[in-house]
Amino acid sequence: MAATQEQLYSGLDLDLSWSERDLPERERTKHVHRLHPYLGKYIPQLVEELFRRHVPAGGRVLDPFAGSGTTLVQALESGLDSAGMDIAAFNCLLTSVKTREHNPFVLERELRDALARFERGEGSASGSSAYVRAWFAPQARAELLRFRSLASGYEHADVLRVVLARAARSARLTTHFDLDFPRAPQQGPYWCHKHRRECRPVEHAAHFVRRYTLDTLTRLKEFARVRTRREAQVLHGDAREVALPGRFDAVVTSPPYPGLIDYHEQHRYAYELLGLDDLREREIGAAARGTSRAALAAYVEGIAGVLAACGAALKPRGRVVIVVNDRRDLYPEILERAGLGLEQRYRRHVNRRTGRRAGEYFEDVLVARRTELHGP
Ligand SMILES: C[S@@+](CC[C@H](N)C(=O)[O-])C[C@H]1O[C@@H](n2cnc3c(N)ncnc32)[C@H](O)[C@@H]1O
Repeated sequence: MAATQEQLYSGLDLDLSWSERDLPERERTKHVHRLHPYLGKYIPQLVEELFRRHVPAGGRVLDPFAGSGTTLVQALESGLDSAGMDIAAFNCLLTSVKTREHNPFVLERELRDALARFERGEGSASGSSAYVRAWFAPQARAELLRFRSLASGYEHADVLRVVLARAARSARLTTHFDLDFPRAPQQGPYWCHKHRRECRPVEHAAHFVRRYTLDTLTRLKEFARVRTRREAQVLHGDAREVALPGRFDAVVTSPPYPGLIDYHEQHRYAYELLGLDDLREREIGAAARGTSRAALAAYVEGIAGVLAACGAALKPRGRVVIVVNDRRDLYPEILERAGLGLEQRYRRHVNRRTGRRAGEYFEDVLVARRTELHGP
């Protein structure tokens, strides 16, 4: 018999479980959190509450799997210093753009200038790759390439690169219902499950460039009003190897999970257009590697290695806080191998309303500390 709503909620930490009404999407994606789509992020309100519980005021946090930068952005909002790393270059670009302190006057002047020049037809459309030729209609492709050529001349070139990537994502030859991992370019009209009518793939990119340039400007200015002037360090590399910069009061992170998401592949268009370094071979738990016994063993070893290094960089009272849906029960072994002891576990209900991922979904927040410092 299925559990009743009451049973379902009895073991939950209700302060970490929000309904759509309590926490609507526009709050979960406030200011820079919606600078570019990213599959697999956690919400800033969860991070804020975990900071409140586990990080001393004015402290310093580390996220070894920083992804789109939610931890670092929230740290700036909560008045904490932070450092984050990620193996995926695009994620690091996105996190740097979100967390950097931009000069608001220069930012506005440059973004508006780049947009005006783009709309006057300036820029060169040369230099496309086979991927770019296959995935964009001729006019969309020419527009994206022109915008790319203009971006490099500005101090805020990285902001313009994120705008370019977001416009490219929307302008790919895909169906409306398969934007996350489209398999092949959609060449002609198709029956759209999302809109329940015949739709056509996108032919132009200019309207996306305009919309996202202005939206990015608004969002960066919104964040500038609420952020503190603490430090947020972004490091690109393999968390198993990167030298950790100093000591931390806490680690707050949501690690990759085996067989779920390919973090480079979801932003393939950005790697192709921006010429970013592709280190997908170093992704821990990449979906492409599957969930064979060998793949799971490699995952356990990889995450345990990262968490052990993070644990060693903690101050004596520091905690490692991990948000995960551990349906394979891998984390007891991972924590043990990392020299960490579980101290607390919160269960939370995750509210997911979008498309195919709707439904009841729960995740755990594991709070651990170093065993060798405190005993078993
Ligand atoms: C679940 S996501 C983190 C999402 C993040 N909490 C956010 O809100 O955006 C896990 C991240 O781990 C990164 N990752 C995977 N293998 C890595 C490695 N070896 N070193 C560093 N980062 C890695 C992935 O690129 C991905 O961005």
